[in-house]
Amino acid sequence: MPILSVRDLTVDLMTAGGVIRAVDGVTFGIDSGETVTIIGESGSGKSTTAMALLRLLPDDLAVLAGQAELTGKDVIGTRKHIDGLRGRAVVLVPQDPMTALNPIATVGRQMVEAIRLRHRCGKAEARDRALALLRQVHLSRPEQRLKQYPHELSGGMLQRVLIAMALSAQAELIVADEPTSALDVTVQAGILDLLLEIQQETGVGILLITHDLGVARLMSDRIHVMQSGKFVESGPVEHVVDRPQHAYTRKLLDAIPKLGPWDDPDVPTARKLEVMNGGSS
Ligand SMILES: Nc1ncnc2c1ncn2[C@@H]1O[C@H](COP(=O)(O)OP(=O)(O)OP(=O)(O)O)[C@@H](O)[C@H]1O
Ligand SMILES: [Mg+2]
Repeated sequence: MPILSVRDLTVDLMTAGGVIRAVDGVTFGIDSGETVTIIGESGSGKSTTAMALLRLLPDDLAVLAGQAELTGKDVIGTRKHIDGLRGRAVVLVPQDPMTALNPIATVGRQMVEAIRLRHRCGKAEARDRALALLRQVHLSRPEQRLKQYPHELSGGMLQRVLIAMALSAQAELIVADEPTSALDVTVQAGILDLLLEIQQETGVGILLITHDLGVARLMSDRIHVMQSGKFVESGPVEHVVDRPQHAYTRKLLDAIPKLGPWDDPDVPTARKLEVMNGGSS
């Protein structure tokens, strides 16, 4: 059974300037252990797709149509299932991780509360689990991080905290919306490697959203290329990258070097990203 299955999702946004069809009949699925990427230019509807599926768009802004099931539960016809799944079966790792955390509570308090809810354990045990999770996501000085507030951590560190929270929730799906585009190449590579590592350990599915074909090339099993609310090209990563059918995909591809070290496991991710961003060899 797929973790996520979406059929003919349409999202109309009620804006001051009229109705915008931001998502126009998209269909896709994600199995466990799989990374599916939506790539496309700014304004193509990538975030709206993710926010609609997580039901994070207010009803007076967005009108949804179509079908979507997350872990077999309808998330379009009703809000009642998604409210129990968000932060548990599905965790969002947004571009700006500050927005996903409470600015006035320490990292430790937020993690301990989430862990206690999930595992029904005492404070001390939850704190031990939080520490172990921060170590698992390779966050430096985890004891100190627990006592800090979100604004005291860098963007990359906060991404790691959110990924740790996804781990603690034993999430089946991570939705990562441009998770690394605000980060420099080395930190970006570290987060992408961490996502892949966690996926190998836990079999979590990943819905990755990016405008960077290099990142998509590195991370994805399957890619959907989005333009003006529609998927204009879909397929396994090799097909889309090596044999693009659509002019828009070819345009995206022209921006990255044809030959590269992306399939060489000995080349570090940071180096691959540098090459794809046009860095010299
Ligand atoms: N809250 C909103 N109010 C009005 N229009 C919106 C809102 N959110 C998105 N839109 C519009 O919906 C369309 C899709 O936007 P969306 O944010 O999904 O694009 P995106 O592909 O995520 O772009 P980016 O790469 O810049 O993040 C755009 O035309 C955008 O202007
Ligand atoms: Mg977006």
